Amino acid sequence: MVDADLVFQSYGRSCNKAAFYEDFYSEFMNQSDDIRALFQDTNMDAQRGLLRGGIMWLVMHARGMSDSKIRALGESHSRKKMNIHPSHYGLWVNALMTTLARHDPEFSPQLERTWRATIGPSIELIQSLYEH
Ligand code: HEM
Repeated sequence: MVDADLVFQSYGRSCNKAAFYEDFYSEFMNQSDDIRALFQDTNMDAQRGLLRGGIMWLVMHARGMSDSKIRALGESHSRKKMNIHPSHYGLWVNALMTTLARHDPEFSPQLERTWRATIGPSIELIQSLYEH
């Protein structure tokens, strides 16, 4: 099976539960006070729903979908809009891996490498649009 399909199946085993997104945001916000501060005024119920779509876009982009949704994320997170510095994405991906490890019963170090390699190019595209 190709990498993007392994990731898609892992997403299917874990990302369909509300608890996944609750765990993701606790994990992500626990990583740094700066990150916690960014979500201070955010409606987290709505945000958890938006993240579900966002992860789906990363997975679909890796499977060959057009990059328009990924570019839209790059635009909304850019310096002129939400001002999410590119250095924060490493923590975001780490929080995603920790959450996947907890929720996907078939998670493994090998599958983690596959996830990172598969969504890496889309994350880099988002980071590259920061100053655009
Ligand atoms: C590739 C990784 C990421 C994905 C898929 C993602 C996804 C999303 C989505 C779908 C939204 C809703 C607005 C929109 O569509 O643009 C959003 C908002 C937001 N994201 Fe991200 N995000 C990512 C990385 C980050 C990082 C690294 C941070 C920084 C700490 C961050 C902070 C925020 C904030 C502060 C909002 C706005 C919350 C509000 O409305 O109050 N995101 N994100």
